[in-house]
Parts: sequence; structure tokens; C-alpha cells
Amino acid sequence: MTLPPAERTTVDSQRRNFLKTTGAMALAGALPFATWSHRATAAASDAFVPDVEIELVAQADEIQILPGRATAVWHFVGRVLKGPADAVQTLPESYAGPIFRLKTGQKVRIKYLNRIAQPSNVHWHGLIVPERMDGHPRDVVPPGGEYVYEFEVINRAGTYWFHPHPHGYTGTQVYGGLAGLFLVSDDEEQALRLPRGERDLSIVLADRTFDAANQLVYEGAMGGGMMGNMTGFLGERILANGRPSLAFPAVSGAYRLRLLNGSNSRIYRIARSDRKPLVAIATDGGLLATSVTRPFLLLGPAERAELWIDFHDASAGSRIALVAEPLDFGGAGMGMMGGMMGGMMGRGRGSGPQPAKPHAFAQFTVGRSNGRETLPARLAELAPVAATRDLRRREFAITVGHMNWGINGRTFEMNEVAPDERVRFGAAEVWEFSNRTSMMAMPHPMHIHSTQFRVIERTGTPASLEGPRAGLLDGGLKDTVLVLPGERIRVQLTFNAYRGLFLYHCHNLVHEDMGMMRNFLVA
Ligand code: C2O
Ligand code: CU
Repeated sequence: MTLPPAERTTVDSQRRNFLKTTGAMALAGALPFATWSHRATAAASDAFVPDVEIELVAQADEIQILPGRATAVWHFVGRVLKGPADAVQTLPESYAGPIFRLKTGQKVRIKYLNRIAQPSNVHWHGLIVPERMDGHPRDVVPPGGEYVYEFEVINRAGTYWFHPHPHGYTGTQVYGGLAGLFLVSDDEEQALRLPRGERDLSIVLADRTFDAANQLVYEGAMGGGMMGNMTGFLGERILANGRPSLAFPAVSGAYRLRLLNGSNSRIYRIARSDRKPLVAIATDGGLLATSVTRPFLLLGPAERAELWIDFHDASAGSRIALVAEPLDFGGAGMGMMGGMMGGMMGRGRGSGPQPAKPHAFAQFTVGRSNGRETLPARLAELAPVAATRDLRRREFAITVGHMNWGINGRTFEMNEVAPDERVRFGAAEVWEFSNRTSMMAMPHPMHIHSTQFRVIERTGTPASLEGPRAGLLDGGLKDTVLVLPGERIRVQLTFNAYRGLFLYHCHNLVHEDMGMMRNFLVA
């Protein structure tokens, strides 16, 4: 069976690597995950009565993406077993998706079936769920295995997503096509009467490199050589919802547009082709208090943003596109985006160019207008950020060691928690991420599980990065924050939902797979 994407390394060496990372139990042949899956299934089911039940299968497929041969991909296929039929929406002709639509307070059971040739699982990115439901790498199931995820949706309305989270293979599997959106709505959001139905659009951006036979090429943590490992992987083409581009004919009035950066490493600079500013209404964890405008958006891997796009004053027949623009980080600090990634590594395929000219990933053709809609001035009530002066502060420095990235000099160990990674249940804290390595300056999208945090401070931005910084959305609730080279970012977070073992890591999936990830324990 073909294993998408076609990695430069052999399956055998990946397998060896995987066994190495899972340690002695796997080597002895007693795979630890099988027992967990059954225990989780049995223990949770009795008391749990789901409002919505979904079957989610991860499977191999062939999808027509480019003209010519179909591309071997991995693909999540979902269907509703119980509850409203529109809880799962399938994207036609795409590996991307499906899209889940749930409401705050609903209890959901997701029967997951692993039908790919690698151990895998599902993480509900941005959602706050019990530890054994969170898709920790220790809870992977083998090929052919199953896992039952059960949780109540306690997050507020927002654009969340899901993807596999096995250690060492997250990048490979997400790149192969395993990622979907998990949209949550709630009463507060519904009362706003934002555009809905066909006016509520979702676009997942991802970059891919194809070989001459239209098959995916990935140089992740296990391949691509040393420098590929250190910087990440940039694909040659930018896809939107798994398609080379999207066209929306006859648009008029106002739209809600949800964007997810579903790429392994690529950071997007997103703008309107007509140079009008973007109006952002939401970020990772839902609506902002009020809308904000940006000349462009800078969206790191795993980050989301929602835009309000109003076509009412564009003339019928005109075309407006959303474009991914070349990221110009100038010289300093950003050796990596243009210079280092393109030049220093210079390996051509896979080392990944920035787009040399704007790439229109979504084209809107304006139809007849039917009047103006107004964006509510007040979008949401956000709790004020806790006074942070007396809160416990933890510092997490991004470090470079032995041809590998680390956090405070450490890399991932499946069950390890260091003393400074133990958090008291119920505590409000300030976590500080600093990106001041002198060796290799590059941005890192830092993600924390089981929380939505507030960015309270971003300092140290070098003058050369003030330009790109203008496209960041630091307001509202976040679960992933892009830390630019030289920066120090403080976030305020509270651990009051679930006790247990959770992850924090870099969401550059090449870095994550190399071990730029750690556990923290809420107890
Ligand atoms: Cu989207 Cu720990 O990941
Ligand atoms: Cu990183």
C-alpha cells in the first residue's frame, strides 16, 4: 500500500524511529496503546450520554488535486451517527475536512477508526477536553485500532480544528491530509446574527510539494537532512481547502470568512487584492470584543482568524481576491523566511520558496448588491485579563541544541514532567516564551493544550520585524502565538478545567516531531 506522502526516507527507517521514540515497551512488542484505547472506551461510556455521535475514519484515498494523475492522500471521513445531520459537513473533491459544527454545552462522542498504516490519534486543537480525550501521543492506536473520544464542548463559539498527534508523525500525517475544522457556536454568538449558511465560509490554507507524478513529497523530521529539520518544510504550492484555488461567484453583501493556517511550517501574509484593509472579528478562541483592522494578516501554523468581508460597495462583475503575499522579513532576524529557507538551504524542491508574487487562493466575483449589512460594534464580552503582578510566572526559552530545537534545553519524553512543568489545578499563571537564540533566528508558533490564553505582552521585536508584526492579532483568546525572533511574549492562562497531563509545543510540525514539545501536569 502506498504511504502518502512519499517521504525521502523509507518506511522502515520511519518505523525504527517511531519504535525508538515510544521506547522499550514497543520494542518488546507489547504496544502500550491498545490497552489504553479499550480502557478509555469502556470507562467513559457508561455515564456519558452524547447529544451528537460521529464516526471519524482516517483512511487512505486518491483525490484529484492537479490535472493529470490523482494524488494519494490520507483523509478523514466523518458521518453523523446520532444528532443533527449538519453536524458534519464534507468538502467535495478534497482531502481536507470534514467540518464539524457543534454548540457549546453539547456532549459529543467521536468514534475514531485508524485505517492508515501508522499509529495515530486525534487532537482537538483549541478545545478544552479531559486529558485522555486530548489526543496525547501516548494515546495513539495502531493501524486498524479504534478510540472513542467523549467530551462536552465547553469552549465558547469559535473556529477550532482537529488533527493527529502521534509523536514523530504529526507532520507526516497532517501533510498527508488529516486535518478538519471543528466549528463551535453558542447563544452569545448566535444573537449577533453574523452572516451564516453560505455566507459563513471556511478556508484552510496548506502548502504542498508534488512530484512529477502528482504525488506528495514531504521532508519532515525524519527526512530532508539537517537543515530541513531545523527550519521546517515549505511546500511549493499553496492550497485552499485542498484545491489549487477557490472561486466564489456572485458574492454580495457581507461574509464571515474563517481562516486556518493548516500548514506544517509556512507562515502566511494574507491581504486583499484591492488593498482594502482586512476587518478581523475573531481569533483562535472566538470573537474579539470589537473588530480590528489590519493592512494584512500574519498567520502562523495552527492560528485562526475570522474576517468580516463586505462586498456591498464593489461594482457588480468586479473581482476581489484574497492573496498570500511574499513575506518580506528584510535581512535581519528573518534570515529564515526568505534567506535561510530559500538560500542557505537551497535544496530546491521541498526547501520551499516564498511565493515570488501574490498567490490568489480565493477569488470572489461580485454580484448584484442587495443592501448594506452592518457589523455589530460590540462582538463579545471578554473577561478582563487577570491582574498579573502576583501571578506565578514560568519562563520557557526556545533553545537550540544538538541539531534540534528544545524548550528550556529539553525535548519531548512521552511521560516526563519536569518540576517546573507542574501546575496547580485552578491556578492563574503567566507563561513567558522567549525566542532569543543567537544561533538560528526564526519564528516559532507556540501552542498550549487545554487552555485559551490572553497575550499580555510582546516585547523585543527587532526593528526589521515591525513590518510583519503589524499583521498579528494578539487580542482575544488564543491557543497558539507566533513568537518572532528576538521576542519575548507573556501570556496569561488559567488551569481550571481539567487535571492531567497536557502538551505545550511548537506548532511548526517539523519542530514538534523533532521533539520541540513538552508535557505539563495539572494536579
Ligand atoms: Cu494542533 Cu498539540 O496541536
Ligand atoms: Cu519551532
